[in-house]
Amino acid sequence: KTRVFSGIQPSGGLTLGNYLGALKRFSEAQDQGIETVYCIVDLHAITVWQDPATLRHATRELAAGFIAAGVDPARSILFNQSQVSAHAELAWIFNCVARMGWLNRMTQFKDKAGKNRENASVGLFAYPNLMAADIMAYHATHVPVGEDQKQHLELARDIAIKFNNDFGVNFFPVVEPMIEGPATRVMSLRDGTKKMSKSDPSDQSRINLTDDADAIAQKIRKAKTDAEPLPTTLEGLEGRPEARNLVNIFAALSDSTPAGVLEEFAGQGFGTFKPVLADLAVARLGPINAEMTRLLQDPAEIDRILGQGAERADAIARPIIEQAYDIVGLIRSR
Ligand code: TYM
Repeated sequence: KTRVFSGIQPSGGLTLGNYLGALKRFSEAQDQGIETVYCIVDLHAITVWQDPATLRHATRELAAGFIAAGVDPARSILFNQSQVSAHAELAWIFNCVARMGWLNRMTQFKDKAGKNRENASVGLFAYPNLMAADIMAYHATHVPVGEDQKQHLELARDIAIKFNNDFGVNFFPVVEPMIEGPATRVMSLRDGTKKMSKSDPSDQSRINLTDDADAIAQKIRKAKTDAEPLPTTLEGLEGRPEARNLVNIFAALSDSTPAGVLEEFAGQGFGTFKPVLADLAVARLGPINAEMTRLLQDPAEIDRILGQGAERADAIARPIIEQAYDIVGLIRSR
């Protein structure tokens, strides 16, 4: 049985990278009629300190972002992680399955912890185990994510395989990452070799889903490019990371392909391409921004939606976690 699971952290706002790499694809999976479970991973967010009021707001804002981007809480399950205890419970079991050596290799931990590893939280180190638990608590088979999550998903596969081996069962499915489409790695608008990220100090490097039309157009107009016109073939984008990035963004926003975009714009300079891209981005993101603002006017309604989603999520995860406890040999008698 196909079941899609994915999550986004409520830390900082949503970027165009989150939208094209994740959110937009979440609603597409839902619209294909697949069972879809989407989680606002607040327990992951607190692996680095969050101001409590800011975290609450970011959680609601992210929920509004999901819905505005087309995730329908009636057709998908949408909830925040901490309301379903199976995540934390299974994460503990996986803390005992995963090896220190595996986690030591995680590049995201190295990046996030920086030079001062001694001072990073234990939660930040164990982060990928919780992510594996998110997926496995639902026996999810497919996980749509951007390229940057690939290593974490490989770890989740390793955990599933080791659990099954350790206990001689075939209980956790080995998940398939879905890293697909033209925008699996949206790059910074200032440096085509760096990922677009909510933590980049320069706001010019990213488009936020909360940016207004003027800000979006201005950031695209000022995006770093080269002086060459757009090439006729994809090979012509070799060694031109900024040009490639804008072509990929155009393709994703217009539901086309990079080759299709080049067919339309080959030989044209960025003076022509950028204004068309800016109009496209404003047309696509403007309505999402407006809908987010509207939804956020009623935070109680958002909380109600998350609570209902959590109940539905719990109904799937609870029996799975109970079986996992039994497989491990933990007595359940109350
Ligand atoms: P997070 O919150 O950093 O990002 C959410 C999703 O957005 C994608 N993404 C991008 N895609 C393309 N280009 C970019 N520049 C870009 N930046 C971010 C991410 O790949 C991700 O799909 N650990 C995860 C959250 C998580 C999760 C899970 C995901 C927790 N449990 C279980 C899947 C399944 C994270 O920090 O994503």
